[in-house]
Parts: sequence; C-alpha cells; structure tokens
Amino acid sequence: MDIRIHAPLDMHLHLREGALLRLVAPLSARDFAGAVIMPNLVPAVDTLERLATYRAEVEAATAPHTFAPLMTLFFRQYDEALLTAVRPHIIGVKLYPEGVTTNSADGVRDLQRIEPTLAVLERLGIPLLVHGESHGFVLDREAEFLRTYTRWANLFPRLTIVMEHITTAAAVRLLDEYANLAATVTLHHLLLTLDDVVGGLLSPHAFCKPIAKRPEDRAALLEAALHAHPRLMFGSDSAPHPVERKEAAGCAAGIFSAPVSLPLLAELFARHDALDQLQAFVSDNARTVYGITPPAKTVTLAERPWQVPARYGEVVPFYAGQTLAWQVVEVA
Ligand code: NCD
Ligand code: ZN
Repeated sequence: MDIRIHAPLDMHLHLREGALLRLVAPLSARDFAGAVIMPNLVPAVDTLERLATYRAEVEAATAPHTFAPLMTLFFRQYDEALLTAVRPHIIGVKLYPEGVTTNSADGVRDLQRIEPTLAVLERLGIPLLVHGESHGFVLDREAEFLRTYTRWANLFPRLTIVMEHITTAAAVRLLDEYANLAATVTLHHLLLTLDDVVGGLLSPHAFCKPIAKRPEDRAALLEAALHAHPRLMFGSDSAPHPVERKEAAGCAAGIFSAPVSLPLLAELFARHDALDQLQAFVSDNARTVYGITPPAKTVTLAERPWQVPARYGEVVPFYAGQTLAWQVVEVA
C-alpha cells in the first residue's frame, strides 16, 4: 500500500542553530514542504535582523530541498511600527510564559499586561502562537491555561490564536467553542501517555513539555486527529537535544521526531483506517487556518519496513533502533 501527500507541513518545529541545525534541518526539509520554525534560541529571535539571519541559516541548511521556513518571532511587547515591519516576514508571534520550557526564561511574566500588544496583533492580522502552560502542578498546567485561551478568544475575536502542542481532552473541547482558536498536536502526544514517560523505567527520550497525559487525553487527541478536525494541524514539536543533555540527571525536555514523523503518522492513520484524513491533518488544515500556499511538493509513503537509526549524530531520535512499517519512498 502507498499514499501520496501534497505539501506536508510541520506547523511546530525546533531547528536550533549551528551544527545541530545543519544536522537536523535536512531531515525535515526532505519530508516536508514547509514548517513553522520556533524562535526559542539563545538569544531569542526577537528582532528583524535576527529573523533575517536565522532564516538565511535555515535556508542554507535546507537547500536544495523544496522547503518553506515559516518564521516566528519570540513574543515581546513590540510596538506597532516593529510589528508592521516584521509582518511580511513571519507567520506569527510565539508566546512563552516565563520559564515554562526550554529557553523561555525570557518569556512573559504577567499575561494581563500584554493584552495591548495582543490587540495590535489582532489589528494587523498576525497569528499568536502560544505555549499554553501555567506555573501550576505539572499535570494541570495546560488545563489551567485554558482560562487564558478563553479570555483571549473572547477579547480578541479576530485574532487567530494557535494553542500549540495540545495534550488534553479539555483543550480539544475548547477548540470547538471558539472559531478563532486553532491548535497543533504532536505525533508523540498521539502515541504516548505519562506511563510511557515515568510508568516503568524512566524514559528521557519520551520526556517533553507539555508532558504526555492520561489515556483518555490521548484518545481525545487521536480521535480529533484521525477525523482531521478542521482547526487541528500537525506540528511535530521535534526538539533535538544532544544525548548528554537527555541521558542526564536533569534531562532536557524535547523529543526529536522529525525523521520518523511522516512514517509513524502513516502507520498510525493506516492502523485506524483513516489514511484518507492524513492529507487534511498534515497540510490542508494548516493552509486554511493560516491562509498559506505551500510550495508544490508530493511525498509518497509506502508500507515498506526500515530501521530507525540509533543516533543522528549526537541526537537520539524518537523510536531509535525500532523498525517502522512505513517510509518515504519518493519526493517530487
Ligand atoms: C522544546 C524545546 O526543546 O525547545 N521542548 C519541548 O519539550 N517541547 C520547547 C517547547 O516547545 O516546549
Ligand atoms: Zn516546541
């Protein structure tokens, strides 16, 4: 069996910088027609100049693949002049609450104080991408943040708010309540629960933010993905860290899933008899939500086993060493 996907998109991707970028970026650029590139570098991508430099670095690392880097700016209280200038160069602004994840020490402390800036984003038609976690108990962080999404969805009805990497059934339900809310979901949150992270031997390569939740949460996410809920988009949140930062006391959060994303999605959708929904989930929904036209690129996946490498350079991939049933066999 095989399947063709037109312009697959990864709507949440960490490519890093320097040698790590050059290692991981070609893997995404081979399989995807474009990706939303996260700005949580050190220092963050928060000026026009830094944005241009980073885009050039990404383009150099992804050539000669057909691949559109959809750049984001790290949220700050920018003024209207800056946002107007940057608008043609970005797909959205990415907001991190202070300290909730990798490289977010410089995120937002007081969520109410930034509302005037959100009003400017709304006026300029710039989407707001949000890492929606509170500073509460780890399993409740997303659920607690849903109040903030609700407040902003009401206050800014013309602002597109993307709830990044949702992990709970409650977030799926909220999607249906507000037309201006959209969401991304990762591959790993469709496959894992908290049991896979800490239920047996501690599994650093399954540790990410937000942490995987309960079986019923995973079931709700999977149900929405398999039915290609029109405002749910695939975003891998592939987040590579060198192995010594993962297999360590004090394991960094992030799962490197880029090289296995499309194969495992095909396997998952095939297993649930939902391959006909994959095109919408990995491309069409994102085109509609963001109003974008990705470059032409057709990726064919076939049911043909391959073994995931144990390492890509210094990085351990999701499903390292395991045999997957599907692989990308042609890119045109
Ligand atoms: C991401 C990273 O490493 O940059 N980590 C993660 O666990 N997902 C940051 C993020 O998206 O939270
Ligand atoms: Zn992320």
